[in-house]
Amino acid sequence: MSKRASFYGLIGVGIFFTLYSTFNVNYEGHSVRKTEPTFPIPQQSEQKSPRWEDKPQITTVERGIDPVSKTIEQIMSEQPELISNAMEDYQYPNGKYNISASKLEDLVMEQNGRPVRSLIVTTWRSGSTFLGDILNAHPANYYHYEPLLAFDIVQVRGPPLAAKALKWVKDLLNCDYQDLDEYVNYGRDRPWAFIHNPYLWKQCEAHRDVCYNPKFHSSLCRLFPFQSMKLVRLRLRIAQELLADEKLAIRMVLLVRDPRGILQSRKHRDFCPPSPDCSDPALTCADLVSDYKVAVELLKKYPTRFKVIRYEDLSLDPYKHAEELYKFYGLFFHPETKKFLDTHTKASKGGVSSTFRDSAAAPFHWKTELEFGEVEEIQESCATAMKYWGYVPAMNATHQKEFNPVTSYVLEL
Ligand SMILES: *[C@@H]1O[C@H](CO)[C@@H](O)[C@H](O)[C@H]1NC(C)=O
Ligand SMILES: *[C@@H]1O[C@H](CO)[C@@H](O)[C@H](O)[C@H]1NC(C)=O
Repeated sequence: MSKRASFYGLIGVGIFFTLYSTFNVNYEGHSVRKTEPTFPIPQQSEQKSPRWEDKPQITTVERGIDPVSKTIEQIMSEQPELISNAMEDYQYPNGKYNISASKLEDLVMEQNGRPVRSLIVTTWRSGSTFLGDILNAHPANYYHYEPLLAFDIVQVRGPPLAAKALKWVKDLLNCDYQDLDEYVNYGRDRPWAFIHNPYLWKQCEAHRDVCYNPKFHSSLCRLFPFQSMKLVRLRLRIAQELLADEKLAIRMVLLVRDPRGILQSRKHRDFCPPSPDCSDPALTCADLVSDYKVAVELLKKYPTRFKVIRYEDLSLDPYKHAEELYKFYGLFFHPETKKFLDTHTKASKGGVSSTFRDSAAAPFHWKTELEFGEVEEIQESCATAMKYWGYVPAMNATHQKEFNPVTSYVLEL
């Protein structure tokens, strides 16, 4: 209970669904924002540790004891109880969803088990913070939050970045951090890199001397039965290689959003406009087209391990879709997840009955926020992407404000 309570503390009780679109980007963004002024998640962490660099890492061996190793050992000794408490009353798949695990150790790498690995592939401002947190509401989940932050505001579409990106992702999914110094060090002075993983962040706050130690990351990661990851920089053409790795046995969801919603939301993020990969409608929609073509192939090739969802559909009926997604990933729709949805899709500033409407409106702000001229410009670059993904063009300014931009849509194979 207290673990869950602290989890909710971390992600911020009272941060409503609609606010995701406001906050999201601070983390999906990048290093430019070194001193994050409106850093929303745990305020207390800012106060407690404003200047990590003031406290040097303990790396010296004193009196024959390596204090870092000692700290790591101590932290690891505390985890199993924490994890097994979180897993109390858990309904193991036990053959359901094509996962044989029937007890905790079947899922724990440290005990030669195989964790359930759940991936989200998407792009900036497509609702992935919301979906990522739905997965992270699952008990004993180790959240690899956008591991490619250090790549800056670029899309990984092929060489030379693809090989490095895939290596990082695979190493993380294998909890193998020995070649990941750059990944780990990126988290220095950038709390948003690790803060979304409450199990990791709790230790980082308490023991700064181990927070950037790859061995520590490996040891902790290897204890967790569930591993989730969201990727906003890796296009599907590259990410599909992760599905081919049978040993990893990942399950992947491609999260898609209306490009008009994406681009409206990105407009207000200062990390975005300088990068064409982020701000150019033509590039964004070429990615949506490419993702579509790959998705059609992957649905045939991996019908049980690959799935597509549109952000708009998820937002309009979050309970139904969250439950379906959990089944797809092979996760137990735990009461904690239901509680997460109760607090993050319904709550509104004091309102009760109108709240669901608020959350359902989140993906559609572009209809009132964009000028028709801007919408037209996006639609010119995005006709194919919109046709593929089932988004209706707006015909004029009046139409834009009134119409339903989303078709009831099934991906055609
Ligand atoms: C179930 O898993 C096995 C091994 O992981 C795999 O070979 C098989 O294709 C899967 N079956 C389905 C229906 O996903
Ligand atoms: C706007 O577009 C809608 C839908 O095509 C059409 O019915 C309507 O007449 C148009 N309004 C104007 C002012 O052109």
